[in-house]
Amino acid sequence: MRVYDVIYKKRNGGTLSKEEIDFLIKGYVEGSIPDYQISAFLMAVFFRSMDFDETLELTNAMIGSGVSYQFDDMEFPTVDKHSTGGVGDKISIPLVPIVTSFDVIVPMMSGRGLGHTGGTLDKLESIPGFRVDYDDAGFLSLLKINRCAMIGQTGRIAPADKKLYALRDVTATVDSIPLITASIMSKKIAEGAMNFVFDVKYGSGAFMKSREEGEKLASYLTQTAKIAGRNADHVLSDMNVPLGRFIGNRLEIIESMEILKGNGPEDTTQLTEKLAAKMLVLCGLFHDEDSALSKIHEKYSTGEYLDRMKEIIQLQNGDPRVIEDYSIMKPAKNIFEYKAAETGRISRMDAYLIGLAALATGAGREKKEDKVDHSCGLELLKKPGDPVTKGESVILIHYNKKDRLESAKKYIKEGLSIE
Ligand code: URA
Repeated sequence: MRVYDVIYKKRNGGTLSKEEIDFLIKGYVEGSIPDYQISAFLMAVFFRSMDFDETLELTNAMIGSGVSYQFDDMEFPTVDKHSTGGVGDKISIPLVPIVTSFDVIVPMMSGRGLGHTGGTLDKLESIPGFRVDYDDAGFLSLLKINRCAMIGQTGRIAPADKKLYALRDVTATVDSIPLITASIMSKKIAEGAMNFVFDVKYGSGAFMKSREEGEKLASYLTQTAKIAGRNADHVLSDMNVPLGRFIGNRLEIIESMEILKGNGPEDTTQLTEKLAAKMLVLCGLFHDEDSALSKIHEKYSTGEYLDRMKEIIQLQNGDPRVIEDYSIMKPAKNIFEYKAAETGRISRMDAYLIGLAALATGAGREKKEDKVDHSCGLELLKKPGDPVTKGESVILIHYNKKDRLESAKKYIKEGLSIE
């Protein structure tokens, strides 16, 4: 078999066989197929797509590139959630302490920033010392001690996804239903949880631009999970406007802590709670979401969520003082106040362009090798619907480098409308 022929077939809209997909994935992971050929393949998939059966084969080939866990001997049900990616989406961070204050296990493996979206791992690494790279033994030991892990893929979990994910990020091949499905499901199935909740985002700041595409992605994800013998549920959530008020790694950790303290912004808090409720229902701890939600609400005042967060940070080597003292995470040197050019009401805050603005401050990567600047990002003082007067601050830009500020300002100008 020749790599060229497989790329050619997909480029011309053909349906790939299991053998062809296995051949590409195996060759890429082993290093015999170079990045440039896989980039061409990814672009061909982006334009020609894959049907559900091909997507399933791709997912299986990616699972088969590494090891898979099974947690038959755990004393509590295992559950995980995965978001398809958005702007300001820090939900995993408050979600894990909330959910694991109940009797469940969350073996969560997350990713880094992808395209214009942020990544949970980059956010967690804003906490001084916080460690996300664990091997298999470390992963299992976190689960045993703490009933959760908030880590990156261990080198042996779906290594094909790890390589492809980084390549897709820099080749404009992220927003493809089969590629997203195979990426998410390969690591989720290999990671071993028996229950999944997917947060499928649609809108300008999501990889799926329309609700219909979001629905299709949700159905690919849940069908793949079910074929693998797992329970799955999903939420379709609007990503036309950034989630919450903070975008950028350190800033999103601050917002996550505020959610756990009961002071989070309404949109982010509600979505976190909804996903948590679905996870607990899937695990059989509650009959319905409403009873799960009322218990979740009750627990804020007990301090349990913050205790869980502290345990997670401590066990993963981070500095737990961050929960109370945000200055432990080094802030950006400068803050620029982006002001309203006219009086009116914010009518549009385009999540994609605002995501690019956050990326431009240094919060994300342009190339695979880039390091993120944890301190940079955006603070949204106003959201759509809010009234503003000319000259009033709308967004605070946290930045370290002047040229980055200029480029962030350009994206904000494009992404913000006042009427
Ligand atoms: N999250 C993932 O893990 N993979 C994708 O492709 C998109 C979002």
